[in-house]
Amino acid sequence: MRRPLVAGNWKMNKTAAQAVALVNELMPGLKGISDVERVVCPPFTSLPSVHDLLKNTEIGLGAQNMHFKASGAYTGEVSPEMVKEFCQYVILGHSERRQYFAETDATVNEKVKAALAMGLTPIVCVGETEKEYDAGETKAVVTRQILAGFAGIAAADAEKIVVAYEPIWAIGTGKAATAEGANAVLKDSIRPAMSQLWGEAAAQSIRILYGGSVSAANAAEYFKQPDIDGALVGGASLKPADFVTIVTAAKK
Ligand code: 13P
Repeated sequence: MRRPLVAGNWKMNKTAAQAVALVNELMPGLKGISDVERVVCPPFTSLPSVHDLLKNTEIGLGAQNMHFKASGAYTGEVSPEMVKEFCQYVILGHSERRQYFAETDATVNEKVKAALAMGLTPIVCVGETEKEYDAGETKAVVTRQILAGFAGIAAADAEKIVVAYEPIWAIGTGKAATAEGANAVLKDSIRPAMSQLWGEAAAQSIRILYGGSVSAANAAEYFKQPDIDGALVGGASLKPADFVTIVTAAKK
């Protein structure tokens, strides 16, 4: 049984003061929902104060990125241990990081290994561009991202990984993938690639989220799909009522 998970990726939004206000608005609505893991991922600068707020709640905290090295001369970077001080989760390999900050499958691989070694749950993003989608390359792209991004990771560790399938053309565009279309990518491309790495049992036990224009209005459609285990939510995670609706919809 894969436990549903809904994570809010706030991206580069909210000051620390604004983040505290948003979490205060979210907390009452997220309180009563059992059986759904829910996570907020604010910017680094808000992690300490949001961490204090979330103590003794069932709401998890995640970072949006981290470096794979333990420490050293990497100006501007944040280490796995620094993330672990406040967070249980870390988003890795988001398409915006791949597109604007030169992340590759190889750096994602290093980061996933570092996150697992630190006891963090990595939420690892994969997904094709619009051009690749139009060219029918979705399967090839996500298969490459899974095989290279998770190379050298043992099956026992793999079960702690969460994958998020985020077709790039659906991110922030309002052009969400159809629920059936997204499910087909999970079932026919992502789980088979994981099965190739770790065997079928592991591939079936790993949670896969859908991300890309998930809203309060369309979330339930995704959660009805057998292979979709939750959502990675961008824009709608900044609206408390919408995020609560999405988390509630994920309950099996
Ligand atoms: P939107 O929900 O704003 O499309 O963003 C999706 C996303 O990139 C989450 O990581």
